[in-house]
Amino acid sequence: MNGKEDVLSAADFDRKYLERLFGLADKLEPYSGTRTPPDTSDPRYHEIRKIFAGHQLCSAFFGEGNSSASTRTKRSFELAMKRLGGGVISFSEKGSSIEKGESKERTFRNLDSYCDLFIIRDREEGSVAQAASVLKKPVINGGDGNNEHPTQWFLDAYSMQKFGLELDGLKIAFVGDLKGRVVNSNIKGLSHYRGVQVMGLYIPGCELPADRWLKSSYQEASMQNYVEALNDFNPDVIYWCRVQKNLGNEGEYSISPGDIEKLPKKAVWMHPQPIPDKELPPEFDMDRRALWFKQASYGVPVRMALIANVLGYADNVEWLFK
Ligand code: CP
Repeated sequence: MNGKEDVLSAADFDRKYLERLFGLADKLEPYSGTRTPPDTSDPRYHEIRKIFAGHQLCSAFFGEGNSSASTRTKRSFELAMKRLGGGVISFSEKGSSIEKGESKERTFRNLDSYCDLFIIRDREEGSVAQAASVLKKPVINGGDGNNEHPTQWFLDAYSMQKFGLELDGLKIAFVGDLKGRVVNSNIKGLSHYRGVQVMGLYIPGCELPADRWLKSSYQEASMQNYVEALNDFNPDVIYWCRVQKNLGNEGEYSISPGDIEKLPKKAVWMHPQPIPDKELPPEFDMDRRALWFKQASYGVPVRMALIANVLGYADNVEWLFK
């Protein structure tokens, strides 16, 4: 830590940090506009905006082709900053002077003076930490290759609590591509809780890497008999994971709508999205257990709270609610 709060790994944020973050997210949720437009006659709406006025978020998504493409992370961070009353500089490699040969490092050194914090996604593992080491402003990791996506864990943990689940003693099954950053950050985050049981159902070639930090109880099996394995494990959460072909992961799965009724009745279904239709067909969206759209919507208040924390304004916001 160099006097600024970078958010690089889920491992660095314990349950105490998350409890405060989620308390702040609850307070900010009415101003997130994710259910109804914010009430502009509410004096707090204006007080919050006064705190963040003049502040700029740079959302920088790097990577050739679709390697750093984003719908949720990019847009929800940008929306979170706007809902707080700040501004957004939206940067993408395409159309920037990187196309004229400028290096990433020099690009960052310029952007550093235009903004107050960064959300960065890049294709290479460790690339966001590398950017953070040259930037004076705080950096939030929006996904670095297959390594980490800490704010996905934050919004997932918040969502699980909103869905009425206790993180202590949680039983969660990750299904599909276990090599990805979301599983890694979720497992690191869950390691801060007691009695968590994790099952990994992988497709061949996308097993959880052996060096991933596992403090929680972990068992794994191939997806081949996934219906049986899930019913035996009887999880609270089935967390589906797309095969991240844009990051070079290889493999395939395709769940048939006919399997919907065979899945455990009590488990809620989560997914970081995007969801390819050929992995989980649209019929899945209609099931009462499918909570991924709600899950994604919680990204806005959680990211509003995180921006407040990273900019050092959590106390100022909390004071407005006393
Ligand atoms: N969950 C997630 O990171 O989605 P995007 O890739 O659309 O940002």
